[in-house]
Amino acid sequence: MSMPVPWFYHLVAAHMQNVEKLLSATIAEETVLHPPLRHIIQSGGKRLRPLLTLLCGRLQGACVATCLPSDGDELSCAAAAIEALHTASLLHDDILDKAEWRRGAAAVNKVWGNEVAMLTGDYFYATAVELLARANNVEAIRIFAAAAKCLCQGEAAELMERPAYGAPISDWFDRYFMVIEKKTAALFIAACEIASAVAGGTAQDRQSLHSYGLCLGTILQISDDILDLTGETGKIGKKLGMDVQQGVLTLPVIYALEESNDTAVLWQILDNRDYPALGKTVRASQAIARCYAFAHKKAEEACAALLSFPDSDYRRALCDLAAYLVAREK
Ligand code: FPP
Ligand code: MG
Repeated sequence: MSMPVPWFYHLVAAHMQNVEKLLSATIAEETVLHPPLRHIIQSGGKRLRPLLTLLCGRLQGACVATCLPSDGDELSCAAAAIEALHTASLLHDDILDKAEWRRGAAAVNKVWGNEVAMLTGDYFYATAVELLARANNVEAIRIFAAAAKCLCQGEAAELMERPAYGAPISDWFDRYFMVIEKKTAALFIAACEIASAVAGGTAQDRQSLHSYGLCLGTILQISDDILDLTGETGKIGKKLGMDVQQGVLTLPVIYALEESNDTAVLWQILDNRDYPALGKTVRASQAIARCYAFAHKKAEEACAALLSFPDSDYRRALCDLAAYLVAREK
């Protein structure tokens, strides 16, 4: 049975249809890469990042009278560009992770191989630039480029700069938050700030949305990391236990290490890449509860960051979205 669509998606449903149309149109115009492009776009995804751009744009009054139902309004183009950049990064990430599944379907690298997956990712990146150009906003292009660089830096740091096993826990906390700010939150921040640029928001508006986006990206990555240890493959649509397999220490594991009386055992489990034993140890600790408490606090901070905007359906939607991400099961 499919889940009901949360109310805040309905609030920008017409714009979201534009986003889908814009993404489908780029796929339709390409012949050679058409199968992998269609595969990744049609396997769905939550469309969270374009949702953010649309809600933040509407929050600031973008498109009040004019935007609908054209297929190429500036806000929809910017939102589609954000989704295209996100898709490009997932295709590249799945190559690096040797992933087998993405969004409940076989990963593009698994079906067509790494070379095709890389080119499909590059094509989406170029599509993102093309779509953003249609938003006619130089500041939006600057924000986009800075975010794309952050994604690369975050992914590179995760891959190349790991503290040694057994390093002080504080090093792991610092590293974890640095990496997730770059590899995940940067795109959430850009999704919000680009909306501010397109809507002609003030510097204060943009700062508030920056804080909101940072909280939301942090929540998303923490819930992703919890689900990697406790979720159900059928619901999540990707293989679980990938973090431990790749030697990546996530917040639940770092909390479990902090609490443990015998860290040597836990380091050994990590060294053995022993996913069942790690899951058992983490679940027996307070780590998951502490992650949820942390994420909940970030959701409160996210809502507080929006208080500089007047009350509106859009502000309530953005606040509910933060709580929704804390509680998500997929
Ligand atoms: C998923 O993280 C991956 C990211 C959040 C970012 C990936 C970024 C790159 C590959 C570099 C930049 C690429 C471009 C096109 C600018 P995860 O592995 O924790 O999550 P997962 O479980 O969904 O794979
Ligand atoms: Mg990955």
